[in-house]
Amino acid sequence: MKDSLSRTIDYMRISITDRCNLRCQYCMPHGLPWIEHSNILRYEEFLEICSAAATLGIRTIKVTGGEPLARKDCVRFLGRLKELPGIEKATLTTNGLLLEPHVAALAAMKLDGVNISLDTLQREVYQRLTGTDGLAKVLEVLEKTVAAGLKVKINCVPILGINDGEVAAIAALAAKIPVDVRFIELMPTASSQAFTGLTGEAVLSRLLEEYPDLSPASERRGFGPARYYASESLIGRIGLIDAVSNHFCGQCNRIRLTSQGFLKLCLYHEQGVDLRRLLRQGAGREELAAAIKEAILHKPESHCFGQEDESQGIKNMSRIGG
Ligand code: GTP
Ligand code: 5AD
Ligand code: SF4
Repeated sequence: MKDSLSRTIDYMRISITDRCNLRCQYCMPHGLPWIEHSNILRYEEFLEICSAAATLGIRTIKVTGGEPLARKDCVRFLGRLKELPGIEKATLTTNGLLLEPHVAALAAMKLDGVNISLDTLQREVYQRLTGTDGLAKVLEVLEKTVAAGLKVKINCVPILGINDGEVAAIAALAAKIPVDVRFIELMPTASSQAFTGLTGEAVLSRLLEEYPDLSPASERRGFGPARYYASESLIGRIGLIDAVSNHFCGQCNRIRLTSQGFLKLCLYHEQGVDLRRLLRQGAGREELAAAIKEAILHKPESHCFGQEDESQGIKNMSRIGG
């Protein structure tokens, strides 16, 4: 459906758990008090909301966390999402550490995409940044996922003094294997304040030194937050997610559902609707759809990064799912 600004809303991100097996310094360095199980939606409840959203034109569901694979039966849930009437695509965003045992099943169900977070190619930096000695495992599963025929995108958040010197090396993965490598501007959150992210422009100018023919990729399949670039030397593309310096809210196509069943209309605004309450009060699909529709009509025009009133802010990225 269209919102009040004529933006087509056809994509819903759902965070199925607030828990994560990593402690990325810019995300949840000390962990967080986990949300109680009874407050987290059951898979059946997520499916009910997704079905209602599908009747309004939601066609793609992105499953995120925390770390989505840290929740039991995530893969079975993805399979059920793919079978929901009206849903055309289901994708997963993961840190990759728990992915290996599920690659074959995800390929068999023809999952539409797997995005893997990878901020560094240096073992010690990975360990320092995430709290886990997991780099080798992520690189291994990355290759395996690509080899299984799944469409893979790498997400890297370049941060001054941590991994900013690795931009070209990480981009070079797209020369070796068919993956899109995306560089994400660090968004302001409670934990990210101590760090300075690289802008998309800074990333681009570094990459132009390495790949002078890098130019905007012609095809743009649907809307996503990344602007893509291609080079003759690369098999995959380079993506820039420059949400802070160059906000793309005018083309936003998405809504978000937290693990507690709160429908958020914008990553950076608190507005939304408590679908868990409605569901647990016995609302059926039509009633849910009516509530989602009404909420979408109130979707904010844009986020407010860099403006004075960041107070609404993103307190915890891991609880929203990015
Ligand atoms: P694809 O559909 O696979 O292209 O997914 P995606 O790029 O939308 O999702 P992914 O989960 O890989 O997210 C990559 C980064 O983009 C994360 O840092 C998200 O927080 C960020 N992101 C995704 N959607 C939005 C958005 O609407 N606004 C902002 N500011 N950031 C977003
Ligand atoms: N700004 C930008 N990206 C972030 N991520 C987590 N926190 C932030 C932030 N503050 C990224 C993760 C992961 C993706 C889903 O979101 O690194 O790659
Ligand atoms: Fe976990 Fe992702 Fe946050 Fe890292 S950025 S702690 S992988 S939720």
